[in-house]
Amino acid sequence: MRALVSGASSGIGEAFARALRARGERLVLVARRTDRLARLSAELGGADVALPLTLDLARAESAESLQRMLESRGIGVSLLVNNAGVGYAGRVHEQPPEKLRAMLDLDVRAVVELTRAFLPAMIERGRGAVLNVVSMAAFPSARATSPPSSSRSRAPPTPGSAARRRPRRRRWSRPRSPRSTGERSW
Ligand SMILES: NC(=O)c1ccc[n+]([C@@H]2O[C@H](COP(=O)([O-])OP(=O)(O)OC[C@H]3O[C@@H](n4cnc5c(N)ncnc54)[C@H](OP(=O)(O)O)[C@@H]3O)[C@@H](O)[C@H]2O)c1
Repeated sequence: MRALVSGASSGIGEAFARALRARGERLVLVARRTDRLARLSAELGGADVALPLTLDLARAESAESLQRMLESRGIGVSLLVNNAGVGYAGRVHEQPPEKLRAMLDLDVRAVVELTRAFLPAMIERGRGAVLNVVSMAAFPSARATSPPSSSRSRAPPTPGSAARRRPRRRRWSRPRSPRSTGERSW
């Protein structure tokens, strides 16, 4: 059984991978940058414990092909960390449609399809978890970050996720206006 971390080649995903490995988890590291994944895998103990897989999750059927790759190696997934994501700053009507499509494919479709691919086996085993990394950008609907706002607020809570298993009452309050409308990387 392994923890699968999408977007493990940098940032939060890489930090998740390091933290999970430090807890003894065996990993599957997924992202597009082969060199960075290979470096991280070597640092964490090699493919036996941290298998690097180069994959563009924004491409159609990437979840199914990942599922097939893992099945062919006899690897099951006990924790799915849906972390890979992008967020482009700017007004939605000024963005090139293909850029918006790529963002939605990664931030929404891949999250749903990876969950669809790996959750059934977790349910069957009676164990497992799905962790979706999202963004505060889902809440304010700021004009300057409107594409990520909408993509993040549409990433659905997944049945079987930790949040779902231990429901908490959430208090929603009106978000404050952001002080800056400058470019953000997410
Ligand atoms: N940092 C923040 O302040 C912040 C705030 C809110 C939300 N978030 C969210 O947190 C997550 C991680 O963000 P981060 O700050 O750690 O960003 P990051 O350093 O840019 O990491 C993004 C990761 O996603 C991977 N990725 C991007 N496109 C991909 C694709 N098409 N297929 C597969 N992997 C892909 C990248 O790897 P490759 O380029 O190698 O593919 C990278 O490993 C994202 O979902 C982001 O939206 C971050």
